[in-house]
Amino acid sequence: MDDVTDRVFRDIINKCYPPNLYFTEFVNVDGLVSKGRETLRKKLDHPKTEKNLVAQIWGLNPLNFYQIAKEIADNEFGKFLGVDLNMGCPDKVVVKNGACSALINNRELAKDIIEATRKGLKGKLPLSVKTRLGFNKLDYSWIEFLLNQKLDMLIVHARTRTEMSKVPARWDSFKTIKELRDKISPNTLIVGNGDILNYQKALELIEEYKIDGAMIGRGVFQDPFVFSKKSPWESYTKKQKLDLLKTHVELFKKTWNDSRPSNILNKFCKIYINNFDGSKQLREDLMNSKSSDELLFKINKQIDLI
Ligand SMILES: Cc1cc2nc3c(=O)[nH]c(=O)nc-3n(C[C@H](O)[C@H](O)[C@H](O)COP(=O)(O)O)c2cc1C
Repeated sequence: MDDVTDRVFRDIINKCYPPNLYFTEFVNVDGLVSKGRETLRKKLDHPKTEKNLVAQIWGLNPLNFYQIAKEIADNEFGKFLGVDLNMGCPDKVVVKNGACSALINNRELAKDIIEATRKGLKGKLPLSVKTRLGFNKLDYSWIEFLLNQKLDMLIVHARTRTEMSKVPARWDSFKTIKELRDKISPNTLIVGNGDILNYQKALELIEEYKIDGAMIGRGVFQDPFVFSKKSPWESYTKKQKLDLLKTHVELFKKTWNDSRPSNILNKFCKIYINNFDGSKQLREDLMNSKSSDELLFKINKQIDLI
């Protein structure tokens, strides 16, 4: 998730309870082959110790998908377990440019992108697509089209682009998606996504729809232990939460060294500084910090007071 699942937050989640697979933020291939490469590549760079990571890429030019897929397969950005193509992002600007979820309406380009990426990967890494149920309306012809591309994995966020995240995820669509998969491309793994808030729910949905996996997105905002069978988060004390935020901010400073704005940390304050006496006021104060140093100073002061 953009500005969320950077290597810092993935490290924090790892310390809490890791999922089987992580996905990077979506990274633009057209930017990666331009002057912006050095800044952008930091979103893909990761330590050798991080072994269960999939690179998610997006863009417009198939040649750039080919080039970046080749580099990923050759470990230019560290070792990855696979490459995922974002064909689901609903962002207005992205869609206006014809990328991500706009590809639902441009299947010729979607096909070229998939083929170019596959060629770049040279069979060294598996290829997946993450998408939505359709653009304006539920459109199984899009899912059929993707299954005909014989992907290794298809991840479906069970909403259309128009629905953004405003309606409940339409999990019943996985009945049809699963049938289409069995008919068109039995070797493509199907992963469901949308509104899963805990491990138990993920297991139930996998079981109910007989799919291969589940992806959790915003669930991490409510519980950094969301991938564990039994999360201790509800009984976490104010001190434990502040300690976790402190670890996050220190790691953020060390990793990004001011190359990312510190206000990105605000959404993490919302995760950690919650559900204890005075949390609302403290959270607001922390989120008003003008730098990561100021934020750290305030966190340390609070910890000293406990
Ligand atoms: C802040 C934010 C950033 C996101 N960035 C990405 C992204 O980079 N790539 C992607 O595939 N989905 C991204 N998503 C969508 C989520 O991965 C997920 O599909 C969506 O939130 C629905 O799943 P959920 O209900 O589990 O969150 C993002 C969502 C949010 C809220």
